[in-house]
Amino acid sequence: MMKPIQVFCTVSTLVCSLLFQVQSSNAQQNAVETYRPQFHFSPKKGWMNDPNGMVYFNGQYHLFYQHSPNTTIWGPMHWGHAISKDLMHWEEQPIALYPDSLGTIFSGSAVVDRDNTAGFGKNALVAIFTHHNQKIEEAKTGLHQYQSLAYSVDEGKTWTKYKGNPVLPNPGIWDFRDPKVMWHEATKQWVMTLATKQSITFYGSKDLKSWNRLSEFGEGIGAHGGVWECPDLFKLSVNGITKWVLLVSINPGSPSGGSGTQYFIGRFDGQSFVSDHTDTRWVDYGADDYAGITWSNTGERKIFLGWMNNWNYANLVPTQTWRGAMTIPRELTLKPVGKAFYLSSAPVKEFAAITSKAAVLHNVKVKGRYNLSGKTAAFKGKYKLDLTTSTETDFALQFGNAKGDELIVGYDKASRSFYVDRTKSGLVNFEKSFARKTVAPRMVKGGGVSLTVILDVASVEVFADGGLSVLTDTFFSNGLLNQVHVQAAQPTTFQKIQYAEIQATR
Ligand code: FRU
Repeated sequence: MMKPIQVFCTVSTLVCSLLFQVQSSNAQQNAVETYRPQFHFSPKKGWMNDPNGMVYFNGQYHLFYQHSPNTTIWGPMHWGHAISKDLMHWEEQPIALYPDSLGTIFSGSAVVDRDNTAGFGKNALVAIFTHHNQKIEEAKTGLHQYQSLAYSVDEGKTWTKYKGNPVLPNPGIWDFRDPKVMWHEATKQWVMTLATKQSITFYGSKDLKSWNRLSEFGEGIGAHGGVWECPDLFKLSVNGITKWVLLVSINPGSPSGGSGTQYFIGRFDGQSFVSDHTDTRWVDYGADDYAGITWSNTGERKIFLGWMNNWNYANLVPTQTWRGAMTIPRELTLKPVGKAFYLSSAPVKEFAAITSKAAVLHNVKVKGRYNLSGKTAAFKGKYKLDLTTSTETDFALQFGNAKGDELIVGYDKASRSFYVDRTKSGLVNFEKSFARKTVAPRMVKGGGVSLTVILDVASVEVFADGGLSVLTDTFFSNGLLNQVHVQAAQPTTFQKIQYAEIQATR
């Protein structure tokens, strides 16, 4: 860059000063953008939290999200909007829903009303969301959250709020929010799954406008260390067996501190949900996967997206012009382990399109440290590693940089758990709970371990044993983590080590 500038400077001082300005504003921009995710969705500017209203329609994935456009901390909530054809490349759209006289726009969902049950038009997109009214909240009546509708008849470009809002008034429950609506074919009704303090309440409707209470779930089961939020209910089948899965986010009270998402596998008959198990299970054991729900109108596929953050420090993370990013979109499936079924998550198949062809090393014997840095250095902090061991044994991957930051991903045989340790990963002191090691139990009984690790410039996502144990953690290192060492104290054979660059999508 210096050369052309020097040449131009002798020719024209005007061109020279212009180029210097461009160069220095690029440098400033780069510094401002240091932690900008390269292949995860983040808003261009302003604040973002939960994914909302995710719906697939006419070849486009719509992602709406909790958005405060003019602040970088949580503020008056709007629904931001982005669209994608492939779940990887996102185009930001104008804001879809603005606060109005009923309140700000909290989380919710969207459906395609194929049969025009609501009367807004055949195939209208209908958003069902929580209105949050701060004035009423201040009056402490507990009536400040209620459910409302908006619809779009131009494929999500513009939205009209329904005149009869709210459609589900508050019955006197302080936390009464985050409606996730789906069509329940067997009972020919819309079912709303709603977070109601520390339980889930199901409502039914024929027209999306009038709702009747069906049942309540949650007392005496699952984690109750905080408020229940952002639920989702959907069907998954495996080996000819169909189960219903209920996702429930909770804040605080997750195993990794602060926000997390638990799940239940069970039965739903159009009236009530019954869990098959009493143990508490988590979609993701890392610190940074919250309020995740699935896209509607994707048929048998269940595609999940979470907010890659935690309320413990979401308002404090060291990004400058924006705050918040989403996880990689994940395909949810059911997997049998012994006699039980567990939820499994893996990056959607569309992720392969932005992943370069992997190089593969076979039967790598490691005792001590094996240096992969020569292979990963050129990837600019965005890459995927896949590892398989032939036996169940301790090992770790150390991601580092010349500044001495380190992020460790590993398996501990004694406790049968996977972990991500970010205590020395760079900037960690902006909040007291950030410097921590997060731990996920192994669900599979014994045998070799497989791990897929996806690294972006400020996040790591770990899918172990094909997605049965998942960890997502953000980090803010002082330079890209482009050095990798595989570590094993005991001689360990890695059947396979694969590494591939991931292309930026922005
Ligand atoms: C979850 C949540 C939701 C709420 C929204 C407000 O992160 O607290 O329960 O609707 O965020 O932004």
